[in-house]
Amino acid sequence: MASSTRAFVLRHTRLRPVPGLEEIRLLLADEVLPLWHAVQVETDDPDAALPYWAFAWSGGLALGRYLREHPDAVAGKRIFDLASGSGLCAIAAMRAGATEVTGVDIDAFAAAAIQLNARGNRCRVTAVRRDVLDDEPPDVDVVLAGDTWYEAGLAERVMPWLRRARDHGIDVLVGDPGRRYLPTDQLVELARYDVRTTTELEDQDRKHGWVYSLRPR
Ligand SMILES: C[S@@+](CC[C@H](N)C(=O)[O-])C[C@H]1O[C@@H](n2cnc3c(N)ncnc32)[C@H](O)[C@@H]1O
Repeated sequence: MASSTRAFVLRHTRLRPVPGLEEIRLLLADEVLPLWHAVQVETDDPDAALPYWAFAWSGGLALGRYLREHPDAVAGKRIFDLASGSGLCAIAAMRAGATEVTGVDIDAFAAAAIQLNARGNRCRVTAVRRDVLDDEPPDVDVVLAGDTWYEAGLAERVMPWLRRARDHGIDVLVGDPGRRYLPTDQLVELARYDVRTTTELEDQDRKHGWVYSLRPR
């Protein structure tokens, strides 16, 4: 991981407790647009992705709460946190007793944030920058997918990959605040939480976040 990427994350965020999961502290930003602009300047890329990694998303907040309440879902298991962002779900899984956790994201800044946040929470998480959605499912016990249905292109690719993972015997847990592209007909609701987010990201700073498993075929 380039030290400049880590330095950028540290420069633009502040370590603070996660609302509703105060035992976890993440490097978070207050405002999305100024940080997005800084990313565009830093990468010299006007099409750079939004800094998802600098926020705890509603889906991840719900999934993190679920793992705290149901540690048996991950304890003693190998976990793969798809689209990990800040690493929130990966860290929640480690805290719940997972033996090995990998956090994967396509964004280089996210990979740096996962690494820094894991260290800040005294957790060991392997951070990987990669788009895995055309790969075979990983050799793990559980896949976590926190807030991965926020755009059409990603949404189309996520469920087939999660289905393949399930077909390989991997448990799948999804956290989502009811986004437009979420295929609820393919999911079984496990829990619902009230989560605190920010109007920087959402239309309201309080949302419901649901946790699901996959409906059997
Ligand atoms: C809304 S954020 C959710 C982050 C985190 N799971 C949470 O709940 O706070 C979605 C994340 O998906 C990542 N992402 C988008 N496409 C991806 C892909 N093909 N493979 C892995 N990560 C991807 C983005 O970079 C972003 O960090």
